Amino acid sequence: MPLPVKTARKVGSAWKILAPAKLNLYLEVLGPRADGFHELETLMVPVRVYDELVYRPNLGGPLTLSVNLKSSLVEDDLTNDDNLVLRAARHLANFANFVPHGKFQLTKRIPVQAGMGGGSSDAAAALVLANEAWKLGYSHDQLRPLAADLGSDVPFFVDSCAAICHGRGEQIQPIHRMPKLHFVIAKPPAGLSTPAVFRQVAEVSEFSAATVANSSKQLAELLEWLRSGAIAQAGRRMFNRLELAAMHLAPWLTEIRELFGRIGCHARLMTGSGSAYVGVMKSARHARWAVGWLNNLNRGAYANLGHVFATSSC
Ligand code: C5P
Repeated sequence: MPLPVKTARKVGSAWKILAPAKLNLYLEVLGPRADGFHELETLMVPVRVYDELVYRPNLGGPLTLSVNLKSSLVEDDLTNDDNLVLRAARHLANFANFVPHGKFQLTKRIPVQAGMGGGSSDAAAALVLANEAWKLGYSHDQLRPLAADLGSDVPFFVDSCAAICHGRGEQIQPIHRMPKLHFVIAKPPAGLSTPAVFRQVAEVSEFSAATVANSSKQLAELLEWLRSGAIAQAGRRMFNRLELAAMHLAPWLTEIRELFGRIGCHARLMTGSGSAYVGVMKSARHARWAVGWLNNLNRGAYANLGHVFATSSC
């Protein structure tokens, strides 16, 4: 069965595209690389939390971006020139020898510094959308290397299909036959810096050939259980090497992990480099119940849980 390809929708003279968030259900760091990055083996799934990107042509005018914040968690200055949407559009235009123009409007719902790939997803959405709006005609296979120039996670979001990712995260192997998964997520008020978490993991981990062999075995088992719909067994193999490192930097994550141990989830783990924490639940109903239960605690002494919500895989 062919996987769905992400496309932009034309609405009047505007173009629209949804940019989903992702969760890492498995992440092993296989070792440091000479280029300063780390070799990864990770399973990423897109989830139903979306930013939305709208584009209106403005021939002869400049390329601009306005940002509409839907989440109280987004505090950063997202409209500056460094925003990945503008960088992606300029990178594509430069590659195509095209003079970029138009107005981007980004509605942000994906929490930032959460390990949910918000900025990367926006960048990939901008590439796919601009490619269509500017009628450049590149295939997704051609867009993926451009995406990799913008960030390790960006190629995954060009198609936004569940995938195993290798290299620094940019080598994508799509996965067919993924079951529907239900999640509860807590996004603590404080975020975590990706470079800081990777620096910490390098300090606290030892890497060897056995790391690589064990990881590929564990991931193969995880995929097998997922394919057969045995989520409880799959959950026992879900894991994030960055979690322990993140706990050194943010000790309050330990308390969140303990609370997630009390909601009966199949698996509990941090996503990406954090700081969002994920519970893999038995059903949508179980996920909604967990939101209520965690929110009841999410006062006073437990304020570190931050924003708690339920979602599911796309
Ligand atoms: O590629 P991206 O811009 O998302 O990476 C941000 C930072 O995270 C890198 O500069 C690097 O410090 C760290 N990183 C890493 N290994 C990876 C991905 C990211 O060390 N595979």
